[in-house]
Amino acid sequence: MYLLLKNISKIFPPRGGVGEVTAVNQVSLEIEKGELVTLLGPSGCGKTTTLRMIAGFEFPTTGQIILDGEEINEQPPHKRDMSMVFQSYAIFPHLNVFENIAYGLNVRRLPRPEINERVNRVLDLVHLNGYGDRAPNQLSGGQQQRVALARALVMEPKVLLMDEPLSNLDAKLREEMRTEIRRIQKTLNITSVYVTHDQIEAMTLSDKIVVMNEGIIEQIGTPTEIYRYPKSRFVAGFIGRANFIGGKVLNQNNKQMTAEIFGVTITLSGLRNTFSPGQPITLIVRPEMIDIYKSGGGFPGIIRRAVYLGNVIEYDVEIGGELVTAAETDPAKMVMYPEGEAVTVNFSETTIQVLPARS
Ligand SMILES: Nc1ncnc2c1ncn2[C@@H]1O[C@H](COP(=O)(O)OP(=O)(O)OP(=O)(O)O)[C@@H](O)[C@H]1O
Ligand SMILES: [Mg+2]
Repeated sequence: MYLLLKNISKIFPPRGGVGEVTAVNQVSLEIEKGELVTLLGPSGCGKTTTLRMIAGFEFPTTGQIILDGEEINEQPPHKRDMSMVFQSYAIFPHLNVFENIAYGLNVRRLPRPEINERVNRVLDLVHLNGYGDRAPNQLSGGQQQRVALARALVMEPKVLLMDEPLSNLDAKLREEMRTEIRRIQKTLNITSVYVTHDQIEAMTLSDKIVVMNEGIIEQIGTPTEIYRYPKSRFVAGFIGRANFIGGKVLNQNNKQMTAEIFGVTITLSGLRNTFSPGQPITLIVRPEMIDIYKSGGGFPGIIRRAVYLGNVIEYDVEIGGELVTAAETDPAKMVMYPEGEAVTVNFSETTIQVLPARS
C-alpha cells in the first residue's frame, strides 16, 4: 500500500456564527502505487478537504496519513513530494510556458542542463513541444491546463493531486483532456488522486472511485463495481440513473431469490447479499435494463412519456401505479411506442442489484 488514509476526520472549529463543521468523517482509503483514485461526490461532501489533507494544506483533526510506509501527518506540504493541479490553472502570466514549467526546478536550484532536459521531456509528454516560448495568454484553455499539468509532473512527485482540473474547460475539451490525463498518468505510472463531481469523468479516468457523501465514504470500487453493484441508493442515484422499485423477499437460495414486485413473483439471480423471507427490499434497476414489448409475459404497463433522443428512446412507463424510467438503446428496436400504449415490461433479472429497503 503506497498511500494510506486511516480514519481521517476534519472538524473545522466554529467561526462567525457558524457552528463547527465536520467536513470529513472517519475516511479510510488505500491507494496502490501507480493507481488513479477519484474522489467523487456532490458539492460540499468533503472532496477538496480530503485532498488538501493529503497535500498538507490542512491537517487532520484525527487519523493518520501514511505515504510509502511513513506517517506524514505533521509534514508541511513542501516536504511531502506531492504536486497539485487546481481548477484555476494558476500559471504565472508574466512567464512563458518553458519558464512556468521550469519554475519549481529553478527554486530547487537544479543545474541548467537538467532543467532543460526535464522541461523538454514533459513538454513532449503533454504534447506542447514547440510552445515553450509562448506567453500564457497566447494559449487556449486546454493548452493552459496542459502547462499546469506539466508543471506538476516536472517535479516528479510521489503523488499527483488534481482538484477538478477540467471544470473550466468546455465539454469537448474536457472530454479530450480526461483521456489525455489518463494517458499521461499511465505512461508515468504516477500515483494520483483526482477530485471531481462529474461521474463520467470519474468513470473514464479511474482505477478506483471513492464515492463520498456528507463527509463519509459511501463506497469504494472500480467503475464497473460501483455502477453494477451500488451499495446504497445514494451511490446508485449518483452514478448513472436508477429506478428504485420496492418489493418483498419470498425466498432466497444462495444467490437466487424469488421476490414479489408489483404483485408479481419474479426470480432474481447473482445476488451478493443475504435476505430473510418477508424482508422488504429495494431493487435497483437501471433504465437500460428494462425491455418493453408489445405483448407477452411480464409486467403490464402503460407508456406515459416517450422521448426520441437519436441513440436512445426514453420512456416513463406506469407499472402498478408507479412510474419507471426505461431506455431503449437497441437500434433494432428503435420504433417508438406512443404515449398511452399498453405494453409488457421485462427486467433483465441477472443484472438487478437488491438492497434492504432502507439503504
Ligand atoms: N476552512 C473551512 N472552514 C469551515 N468549513 C469549511 C472549510 N473548508 C470547507 N468547509 C466545509 O466543509 C465541507 C466540505 O467542503 P469541501 O470543500 O471539502 O467540499 P467539496 O466536496 O470539495 O465540494 P465542491 O464540489 O463544492 O468543491 C463543506 O460543508 C464546507 O462548507
Ligand atoms: Mg471542492
